[in-house]
Amino acid sequence: MAAADGDIQEELLKLAQLAGLSQDEGIRAAIESLPLLPSPERQRTETEKLMKYLSPLAAMRVWNGDAEEHPFLPQPEGEELPEFDVLLGLIDDLKVGVKLEDFLTHVQVSGPTKKGKTFFILSQLRQLIEHGVPTHIFDTQGDYADLLPSMCPRAKVIRYQDMRRNPFEEPPNLTQDEWLQHVTNYLRECFYYRDGVVNLFRSLCTQLREQGLKFNARTFVEEYRRVPRTVRREADYFQSLGRFVTAISNPTYQCESGFDLRMLSTEPVVFDLSNMANDWRLFFIADLVTWHHASRTYRRNRGVELVLVFDELSHFYSEEASKRSDLGEPFILQMVRESRKRGLGVILADQVYKNFHGTVRANCQTKVVFETIDGPSRIEVGRDLSLNQEQQEFLSELSFNVQPQRRVLVQIPTYPKPFLLIIPQIEMPDSRQVYEKPELEWVPLPEKEEKQEKPQHDEVSHEMDRYLATVGCNPLLTESECDALVKNYDPTHNKTRGTNIRKALMELGLLEEHKVPTMKRGRYYKVPVPTKAGYERLSKRKIGFKTLEGNGSVQHKFYQRRVKEKLQKQGLYAEVEMILRTKQVDVGSVKEGLLPRRVAYEIVWDDDLDKELSNLEKNAIDGWDMTVFAVQNEEMRDHLNAVLPDGNEQVEIRLLRELI
Ligand SMILES: Nc1ncnc2c1ncn2[C@@H]1O[C@H](COP(=O)(O)OP(=O)(O)OP(=O)(O)O)[C@@H](O)[C@H]1O
Ligand SMILES: [Mg+2]
Repeated sequence: MAAADGDIQEELLKLAQLAGLSQDEGIRAAIESLPLLPSPERQRTETEKLMKYLSPLAAMRVWNGDAEEHPFLPQPEGEELPEFDVLLGLIDDLKVGVKLEDFLTHVQVSGPTKKGKTFFILSQLRQLIEHGVPTHIFDTQGDYADLLPSMCPRAKVIRYQDMRRNPFEEPPNLTQDEWLQHVTNYLRECFYYRDGVVNLFRSLCTQLREQGLKFNARTFVEEYRRVPRTVRREADYFQSLGRFVTAISNPTYQCESGFDLRMLSTEPVVFDLSNMANDWRLFFIADLVTWHHASRTYRRNRGVELVLVFDELSHFYSEEASKRSDLGEPFILQMVRESRKRGLGVILADQVYKNFHGTVRANCQTKVVFETIDGPSRIEVGRDLSLNQEQQEFLSELSFNVQPQRRVLVQIPTYPKPFLLIIPQIEMPDSRQVYEKPELEWVPLPEKEEKQEKPQHDEVSHEMDRYLATVGCNPLLTESECDALVKNYDPTHNKTRGTNIRKALMELGLLEEHKVPTMKRGRYYKVPVPTKAGYERLSKRKIGFKTLEGNGSVQHKFYQRRVKEKLQKQGLYAEVEMILRTKQVDVGSVKEGLLPRRVAYEIVWDDDLDKELSNLEKNAIDGWDMTVFAVQNEEMRDHLNAVLPDGNEQVEIRLLRELI
């Protein structure tokens, strides 16, 4: 047989495949034995025979494929469908989509894992962003954080560690009381709090307000620790409220006012929450969503101002909470019900249709249903979209015989019946970067001191107790700073009295004095600190003292505090022993903004320069933009300078005295 005959064989095999007979042994043998036939004549006649047999079969099957019978026929025709802004998919060559306003009546997407829900939503987001509609995605799996920026370079990804938010700050249109009412509601939902705990929360807030203090996570936590727990019942409430206190002790909330949420809501933003623990995550989202919801006034005919995306809906509310009558309606359901007239659109997705709450189903007028294998869900879809038995069953084979392999059932607000759509293939740019996700890190609260029975110090006078409490509540002050504080509430106090009281407390073993070298040789700050017995005495009297922040010696802690305070005075957010991912730094500061700038301060106390070099490296890996080494004197500065790598712009050496 000639070379061209190989092609003939191949063509016949293709034809057999189209005819559905590629596995038929007789046909295969006939095609394969063609070259073995004795004469070209025989070969030609056999080929013709096979062609004659296979062609009509193949043609019939191809034709059947084109005009596939399915129970949703007839599909809508071009002129029946309105114009659109955002493409959903195709019916053959006909493009079908929805208007921007249709997002205000919300979109619900369901389908088993890996069917393409996330990709479908990404394609919607890309188009919304191109139309200038801001979108906020609460991304619990990190998919959107990975993929959206490569589709829309304008989209910003904010890791929750980088977010700065004061949950006590009310939106501009609400009074503080109104906002606290909202906060109370979502605290109930996020932490399952009952009335007792909620009342405790409110009473702490009232106390803060009465003291005229700024309302933020820091002042709240301080108040929580300061207030004595007198009754047993109350102690339980305090313990429950501890979960909220731990949540707001996260760096996200350690700021005066945080990001400008109004500005943020004009941008496409992915909140990457993939590393966040469940109940904190719910709290984080509840706070932001409630803010967006409450900050917008209710008005008819609003355009779509912001689209919120909740993929994997089950992460955003708990069935348990929605059933408990004392908790009220979960924030997400309330939002789906009321957000339309506030200009908020919502896209919700879940794997199981059956899991969508009735409120969600009733309020989402655009529904996208991927191939649904689970029977109960098919029945529910059937009920919600008025499908007949045959249509319902067809939901399990939506993607059979379809190229590319994704077809969905959709219901849109502007067409009376549901119909089938092909989802176009999405090409991802190759340069997609997959980054390693950082470990989950939390800044734990200090352990509560254990309370024990301890000996009475009868000789302790009222004045001495007060002095001890002042030192305990204001750690790491110098002697003269302590005296000045006491003078605030006791004008007769003076330096000599201070010296005498300290001496008496030291003799009783309740106080000790640490000498911290100043930058001038031979001179010291004297820093009084309660002893273990001193702290025990304070806790027995229910004085909410503060433990010393920082690590290492009292001297080291003293300078950590000084550096922190200086930074705070400059208006920066600063924290001792701050941690971004893996390792604490002596003092960390963050300048707030969409791209926060993070500076780590390391106080160089001894001559261990290798340790400092390794700190430098680890800090850069952890995400600090700059490491500042604070050294005691010029000599140390020169030593360090000699070992630092040249040309590293992420490091600076400063004299400690300039930083305090
Ligand atoms: N429209 C599409 N174009 C191209 N590829 C797609 C499309 N839809 C889905 N895929 C492919 O299928 C894979 C799974 O899709 P996707 O992540 O959207 O599924 P999912 O339904 O969100 O799954 P899960 O429930 O597990 O989150 C994707 O990684 C992608 O490779
Ligand atoms: Mg997904």
